[in-house]
Amino acid sequence: MAIQSIRGMHDLYGAEMSAWSAVEKLVHKTFQDFGYKEIRTPVLEKIEVFSQTVGEDTDIVQKQMYTIDRSEEHLALRPEGTAAFIRAVIQHQLHRLPGAQRFYYYLPMYRYERPQKGRQRQFFQFGGELINDASPEADAEIIALLDQIYKALGLKQYEVRINTLGDSESRARYRKALEDHFRPLLGQLSEDSKARFERAPMRILDSKHDADQNAVKKAPRIGDYLTDSAKAHFESVKRRLKQAGVAFIVDPLIVRGLDYYSLTAFEFVSDQLGAQSALGGGGRYDGLAERFGEKPIPAVGFALGMERLMLALEASEKMPKAPGGPFLYLAPLGEVAFERFYPLSLALKRSGLDCELVYEKDKNLKWQLKQANRCGAQYALLLGEEEVAKGVAILKNMSDGGQKEIALDHVIEEINAEQLKQAHSA
Ligand code: HAM
Repeated sequence: MAIQSIRGMHDLYGAEMSAWSAVEKLVHKTFQDFGYKEIRTPVLEKIEVFSQTVGEDTDIVQKQMYTIDRSEEHLALRPEGTAAFIRAVIQHQLHRLPGAQRFYYYLPMYRYERPQKGRQRQFFQFGGELINDASPEADAEIIALLDQIYKALGLKQYEVRINTLGDSESRARYRKALEDHFRPLLGQLSEDSKARFERAPMRILDSKHDADQNAVKKAPRIGDYLTDSAKAHFESVKRRLKQAGVAFIVDPLIVRGLDYYSLTAFEFVSDQLGAQSALGGGGRYDGLAERFGEKPIPAVGFALGMERLMLALEASEKMPKAPGGPFLYLAPLGEVAFERFYPLSLALKRSGLDCELVYEKDKNLKWQLKQANRCGAQYALLLGEEEVAKGVAILKNMSDGGQKEIALDHVIEEINAEQLKQAHSA
């Protein structure tokens, strides 16, 4: 077999690439409309950026990181954006800037997972992170922003599931209750859940194993173990979401696959994606900075997977139309015409008009028109020796076949006018 890309990592090209670009453009715009500024961190980080923060018991740290050892440094390809983002915040003291600060990123992530539909080893995430603000309004803004990204693209078929993971005091109480609940049931639990019991019993709630479902269903719920302030925070988030017109359901089983969260946690779930149903997710992570030995930095954010977004758009028939071929195809008939069209093609491109000219100089009219059709051009500009002598060219509308003469010295103005006319009638 010829050489291939790595399993779970894909090339993007052609119509699929064009559709991605169109969607990316809209997502960038929604972030910018909400006042978020783009940030880019390197694809490689010191491994502790993730191992200290994401959680020793998580799949990411235990088995999914791509690691590289170089010059006595242990490095990892970024499996997620948030820990790297907070590393950058601390390094550049961005949390010292006054007031709430809003950032977003669009970056590839790497996780050594078993590839399947919607799950890859290289995948792209858009992420939004809001720091220096501990209020429930910030949580609701972040959820409303993710909701708006999907709505702006025309997606409707998803559910916003929110939960609270409590503050550290709530979690300590809840952990004890979970241990008391699961301990007598340990014999029935899956091997994964048994392993989780000692170190992270809350993660058992996230189990997909059939064997665990009964015990999970009957498990105590965090809502009964919240401190007053954690409860008040969650109530305010819900109130603000209602005010913002974001429909949601409270799902006590949302615990997230990363360890750095506290208080609000959420997932956007779609039934159009098969087994990998999470379109995006996030939550509050005020304590992440402490895992780097810093003071807490109030922070809340989310990430959405581009591959899953594209699958959902496809399933909802909301994929943006990829732009067709060039606006104009230049069809010179003979050497003299080609001499005129070569500089014209560059002048058109410089003025922002997309055009195509084939650099083979001996093609006849039939070949040129077939080529114009094949590349999807809206217009063809025909030029033979006779037209050169008259100082005109023939502009042919490829969809209705209509044609007219335009002055050879004013092609750019004429084509511009034609494009404008079309934009108005569209
Ligand atoms: P996450 O839930 O691990 O959160 O990932 C967020 C989203 O990335 C998922 O909902 C999914 O759409 C996509 N995703 C994850 N793994 C894969 C994969 N193997 N293939 C395709 N898509 C995938 C985070 O990464 C957190 N950093 C989110 C966050 C930001 N929390 C606070 N700020």
